[in-house]
Parts: sequence; C-alpha cells; structure tokens
Amino acid sequence: MADNSIEKSSEIYHPSAEVVANANVPEYEQLYQYSCENREQFWAEQADHLRWYKKWDKVLDDSNKPFYKWFTGANFNIVHNAIDRHLEDATRNKLAIIWESEAGAVRSFSYHALNREVSKFANTLKSMGVKKGEVVTIYMPQVPELVFAMLACAKIGAVHSVVYGGFSYEALAARIEDAHSRVLITADGGFRRGKPIDLKSIANEAMKRSPTIEVCITVRNNGLDVEMESERDFWYHDLQSLPVASNKCETEVLDSEDPLFILYTSGTTGKPKGMLHTHAGYAVYTSTTHRCLFDVKPEDRWWCAADPGWITGHSYLVYSPLINGATIVMYEGAPNYPYPNRLWQMVEKYGVNLFYTSPTAIRGLMRFGERWPQRHDLSSLRILGSVGEPINPEAWKWYYEVIGDSKCPIIDTWWQTETGGVMIAPLPITPLKPGSCTKPFFGNEVAVVDDEGNEVPAGEEGKLVIKNPWPGMARTIYGDDERYASLYWGDYGDKEYYKAGDSAKVDEDGYVWVIGRMDEVLKVSGYRLGTAEIESALVSHQAVSEAAAIGLPHEVKGNAIHTYAILRDGLVGDKALEQELKEHVAKELGKIAQPEDVQFVESLPKTRSGKIMRRVLRARALGQDEGDLSTLEE
Ligand code: WT7
Repeated sequence: MADNSIEKSSEIYHPSAEVVANANVPEYEQLYQYSCENREQFWAEQADHLRWYKKWDKVLDDSNKPFYKWFTGANFNIVHNAIDRHLEDATRNKLAIIWESEAGAVRSFSYHALNREVSKFANTLKSMGVKKGEVVTIYMPQVPELVFAMLACAKIGAVHSVVYGGFSYEALAARIEDAHSRVLITADGGFRRGKPIDLKSIANEAMKRSPTIEVCITVRNNGLDVEMESERDFWYHDLQSLPVASNKCETEVLDSEDPLFILYTSGTTGKPKGMLHTHAGYAVYTSTTHRCLFDVKPEDRWWCAADPGWITGHSYLVYSPLINGATIVMYEGAPNYPYPNRLWQMVEKYGVNLFYTSPTAIRGLMRFGERWPQRHDLSSLRILGSVGEPINPEAWKWYYEVIGDSKCPIIDTWWQTETGGVMIAPLPITPLKPGSCTKPFFGNEVAVVDDEGNEVPAGEEGKLVIKNPWPGMARTIYGDDERYASLYWGDYGDKEYYKAGDSAKVDEDGYVWVIGRMDEVLKVSGYRLGTAEIESALVSHQAVSEAAAIGLPHEVKGNAIHTYAILRDGLVGDKALEQELKEHVAKELGKIAQPEDVQFVESLPKTRSGKIMRRVLRARALGQDEGDLSTLEE
C-alpha cells in the first residue's frame, strides 16, 4: 500500500482561517530561510524557551565531524524542564498524565504528583547503587511507572535503555548485553485484549543470559504470579515503602552532552544499533518541534498513541509534551478493544485536542467503518498527526474527513530513531498534499541526491539526505563510533550529509514524498525490523539452513513479512513446519516480527559474492520484472 500510493494525489488542502489564527507559528517561508541562514542563532532562540542551570558557551561545536555537539559548556537536565520548573507556577496542579488501562481503570497524576513519583523512583534507584552515566534497562508495559522510571533515570543522570515490551527474551538479552546493564526494571506483566501478558518470566529468561544484571526491580501491574529470585529481585512497591524512597530528590546538574538514553533500532545487520541521545539538544529539538508543529497550548490535552518503547513515545509521549507543560493521555491496550471505537471513545471522554498516531492504526480502524467514530463527539480535536511510514491518500482522507471533520490539519511527520525528533512535516498553516510530509522543519536543509551526492531534478527518485546538523540528532551508536560515522555520514566527499536510508522525491513545489527504506529494513505496521534479524531467527531453528525475508505490500500493515527457507538435507517442508517456524521467529524476536508465511525453496537468488538478492524475490512475488540480473550467480 505504501509503495503504490506515492504521488497519486495532487489535491491541495488549505488550512482554515481558524487554524491560521490559532497557529503558534504564523509564517513558514521567511522563518525557514532565517533558520537555515542563522542556524545557531535560531536554535539559541529556541533554547531560551528552556531552563538552564548555566547557559552554553557555544551553540554548535562542529570541530569533530560527524560527532557534532550542541550547547556545549552549559549545565542542564531534561527533568529540570519536564517537571521541576512546572512546580513553580500553576502548572504544578495541572494534570501531567491521564492513564487508562484496557479494562478501563483510570489513574491520573498532576505535575506535583509526577514529581513525587519520579523522585521516589529516583531515590529507589540510588539506593540500588545506580550511578550517573550507568545504563538502566527498562522492559515494561505501557503503564505510568514506565514514564516514572525513564524520568527517574534522567533525573539522576543515569541513561535509560527502554526495550519495547513486545520483544522476546532473546532481543531483550541482546540489548542488555550491548548496554552492559546492571539494573533491569520490569513489571509482572500487562494486558492485551483482556488477557494478562507475562513479562517477568520473559525478563527472567533474558536475565539467565545476561550476566551483567545484578538487580531487577519489578512493578506490580497485572497481579500474575511471578518467580522472584532472592538477592536479585525486588518488588517496586516494597522498595517504595522504605525510608530511602523519599519524595525529595535533587535533580542532578548535568552537562548538555551527557547521555540521556539509548534506544535500539534495526539496521542492515542482525545486530541492533543503540542510538545514543543526549540531554540538552534533544530537549530543545523535541520541545520546539512539538510546540511549532502541533500548536500545543498550555490548556491542551495531547495524546500520542505510541508505545514509550519506541522513539515516538520517548520524544512525543514523554519528553516534549511534559517540557511544554501539556496534559498527556496514555492508554495501555489494543486500539479496537473491546470495540473499534475505543480510541474515539477516549478522545471524547478526555476532550483530547491533539492526536498523534500511525497510518497502520488509521488503516486498521478504517476497516470497521465510519459508524464507530461517528458515535462520538470528536469536536475537541484540533490537530491530527501521523508518523512511522508514508500515509496513503485514502487513509489520509479518512483521517481528515471522518476523524477531523475536515477541519484538523494532518501533520504527517517524517523522522527516525536517529533524528530524535521530526525532520520534515507541515506546520498547521502549511497547505497539505495527502501522502506528502511536505517541507523541512526549521533549520533543516533536506535534499534528494544521486550516488555522488548531487541533487536530482524535481520529481525524480533519489536518496534522502539532510545537509546540516540539528540539535536532536543522535550522537553516536552506543559503543561504536566508527559504525555511526560510516553508516550515516561521509559518502559524498566534502559534503557532510546525513544519510537517512530512505528514498524520496521532491516535487515542483518543494514538497517531499518519502517512498520507503532503501536498505534491508522493513516497516511493518510502522515497526522497524531488519531482514537480517528475521533471517537469523529463522536460521537459528535446527531445520533451516538458509533463509531470506522480504516485505510485500499489505493493506493494513503497510508491509508484511514473507520469508523463504532452505531446509537441511533430507527435511521436507509442510504446513506444520511452516507454523513452527513462524512461531519460532515470534519467540526469538517478538510477535511483531512473525512472518505471514514461510515458503520452502531449493535455492535463493544470490549475487556472485553470496548476498541474497531480496529485490529479485520481491519482484518475483509481485509478478514484476526482475530488473538487472547481471550480478546474479549462475
Ligand atoms: C523510518 C524510521 C519516526 C518515528 C517512528 C519511526 C519511516 C517514519 C515517516 C513518514 C514516510 C516515514 C522512514 C524512516 N517513516 N515516518 N511520515 N513518512 N516514512 O522511527 O522506527 O526509526 O523508522 O520510518 O522509512 O526511515 P523508526
């Protein structure tokens, strides 16, 4: 779906007078030009919206490219901005978080209460010996304690590494190992479609493979019986009742470039990359984009329906809305449980003003028809956002007309785990073309180039690059500076361009149309997965000797995973084995990586150097021309 939707639609949607009158940023062109010509000045002005213990000496330090540094010489802590400063004014008593469980339980926390919970958690971590700079791994369902845990780490200068709660023990263990985590924070489990989901036993399996873990803190959530190991395992509620877990905790004064978190994402090899983000630049970038792109006002209720386990959750569920003092809505559960009106019911119930979700979620709910949203008063909505993959014009229009009543701009945001925040997106005042993420955000010069780094003519496909550094950029791949430099930079001689890994077009009006990944990365339901990870999961099964994974268009998921397996000598593939292999991948990587099918084959198309030609497999599956086969091995 994602693939065949590009540039189908050239209709332009103009913002209403009301949207224009309400806009936090009333003009784009001039400010954009100013922001690119005076990049450091622009970002210094944005940084002034935040609270600094000590201001910076330099906005951008580019003395060691591509290891850019921002706001050097300053003292800062993101929690000082997301919580502490709000305690000084009326925001203190405002709701910071409204959380609803799948079963309908509601818990809410004012900024005052958030500070109490985060301080208690921070003191608990300190009592476990957690030190500044240490990486704490967090593996939790989408509950308020996940947010408290992240903020508690940041508050004391520890680095969080959140692993999505849908990942398997293998994936969790690999991330713990890479980060050398000593402390793991988890929960007994969560709920999905009314059923309890077990997390602690997965965490226990992972810890068997993770010799670095000394302490595991478990939050009680779904009440499942879990296995606790004395000396290693602690219930959070037990620790919280100890005197050390006081509700007073000084926020650590950090340097701008001190690390805030690591977040693992998939790439071309089987080994996930731990993208490292730092305190100050990330805070400035995410809060600025959030304020400008979504027209956030202090009285707004903001709902980013992503899991905190992904970058969207980090940047736009947790950090930027709290920095901007908004009220966050959070939901732990399936979007269509018990009925397909769940999200719209919550929009009405909480009076949500700004709603941010993925094309997959929209397509998934679109299938159930208009009558579900139409049962609800959605008139509180002002802005709608989309993220994760290209949004096809059909889903765009449904979102716009049925959910937004043709009055809410659709903010289609292109960005990545690596970029920290949104890079290309319309402002609410920007005329929209369904399917295009429109124009670069302030300070960003975006181009579509050929292999030499030269810009291709309007309308032609090429590689998407960013021609400049920005404050929210990842600083490196944790523990692997070299891989960071070669993967993302340095292909085009003197031109220091950031390589996004996506292909795209820019049209005559300068609108960007992202087509999709060019590397061996798949976007499945907006989740990012590497073909190499899926293939190695398949090959780890004793029956499989070689495997290949590709993505094919899927109506709801955007792309779906299809796989090919060569079996070991003498084995014959049948339905039972196919099912076993599908489940094996789900167990190894997580349910999101489970293939649609496994086809048993005798051979795979390969280059002479032995690389699998997934392009050929894809073309064959789609009945398309196989293209240039000159590198295909005999
Ligand atoms: C990849 C990054 C950004 C947070 C969630 C995903 C694709 C993302 C869009 C969009 C077209 C998009 C790209 C990108 N992507 N947003 N609005 N239009 N494509 O972060 O998991 O790091 O994935 O998602 O292919 O490279 P991620």
